[in-house]
Amino acid sequence: MNTLSNRLTELLGIEHPIIQEGMGPYKTNSIAAAVSAAGGLGTVSMPGMTKDPAVGSRLLRESIAEVAGLTDRPFAVNVPVGRDDSGTVLPVSEAYIRAVIEARREDSAVERQLVALTTSAGFPGEFRAMIRDAGLVHMHKVGATRHAQKAEEQGVDVVIASGYEMGGHTHASPVHTFVLVPNVAETVSVPVVLSGGARDGRTLAAALALGASGVAMGTRFIATHENTDWHPAYAQRIVDAREGDDVVFPAVYGPARGLRNAGVERLLEIVRTNEMTSDELIRWKDEGLIRAQETGDVENGIMAAGQVSSGIREIVSIAEFVPRMAAEAAALLQRLAAGSQPAAAV
Ligand SMILES: Cc1cc2nc3c(=O)[nH]c(=O)nc-3n(C[C@H](O)[C@H](O)[C@H](O)COP(=O)(O)O)c2cc1C
Repeated sequence: MNTLSNRLTELLGIEHPIIQEGMGPYKTNSIAAAVSAAGGLGTVSMPGMTKDPAVGSRLLRESIAEVAGLTDRPFAVNVPVGRDDSGTVLPVSEAYIRAVIEARREDSAVERQLVALTTSAGFPGEFRAMIRDAGLVHMHKVGATRHAQKAEEQGVDVVIASGYEMGGHTHASPVHTFVLVPNVAETVSVPVVLSGGARDGRTLAAALALGASGVAMGTRFIATHENTDWHPAYAQRIVDAREGDDVVFPAVYGPARGLRNAGVERLLEIVRTNEMTSDELIRWKDEGLIRAQETGDVENGIMAAGQVSSGIREIVSIAEFVPRMAAEAAALLQRLAAGSQPAAAV
């Protein structure tokens, strides 16, 4: 029996409490399928928040179909939930939620595999009943304990507690995982997943010790052999990054974290000089993100990545990494319980 099985792994039908989290607007199909096949939970990412809703939902459906064809294991989809100035959920977020539900309804194989929807950015209160009735496990990502509490009150099944060091969109009010996760774990009774800074068996063991039932990672999974959706130069830049190479910049919903380069410097200048409208800026940023991923323009593109980049030293194989990470965490917890010193990490 896998010694790290717990109520999270049982709820999701996975072997290891290791999740690859959504990394839109990038495609993560190859990573998601590989993580699920390795016994974790892969996540299909949304294709962009500036997409026309009809185009975006078609692309999301294509990604769902592709991942369902690449693995027969469970996987998730991430949908960031934006709202307009009047507080209405953005049409593109609504289109993505509906696309997930329709993809399951129309295909029984997809229904079996697409087990979870991870919402982030904002809470989709008005769609909560629809998500529940569709039979999806609803995971919601938060950066504050009060948001975790609210999500639980609204019926979510899992809370992902994401700390400020995370890659991509981070939080306006900076609380790091080491503080946030125990706060959330002692406040809610649903399973909690740590997100932000996890990268190996040690960090998984630490997450479990903090009261989480598992970890959700983004940056670590970019630097992997199975990642055929990203240009290799992007993965290599993560491997080469050192402490202090990350920077927080304004993004679509509050701040985002990435690696410092000419592209981010230019972005900060555009914000300072106010030379673009906010719509132009969002489009410019989305293009920069996709350019870095697809063409490997790691100098002038925008590279979302977490602080954990500084501890990622090699490109790994997901097939080997996921079970090894779980085994290392289990062994480490056993050694600590027995009172001996931990050895090296995976
Ligand atoms: C390249 C990149 C893109 C991301 N895009 C999204 C996204 O579309 N939606 C979302 O909820 N989180 C997004 N995130 C955050 C991740 O889902 C995850 O919470 C984060 O990567 C965890 O921190 P880590 O990078 O230290 O593992 C993104 C992260 C990265 C690195």
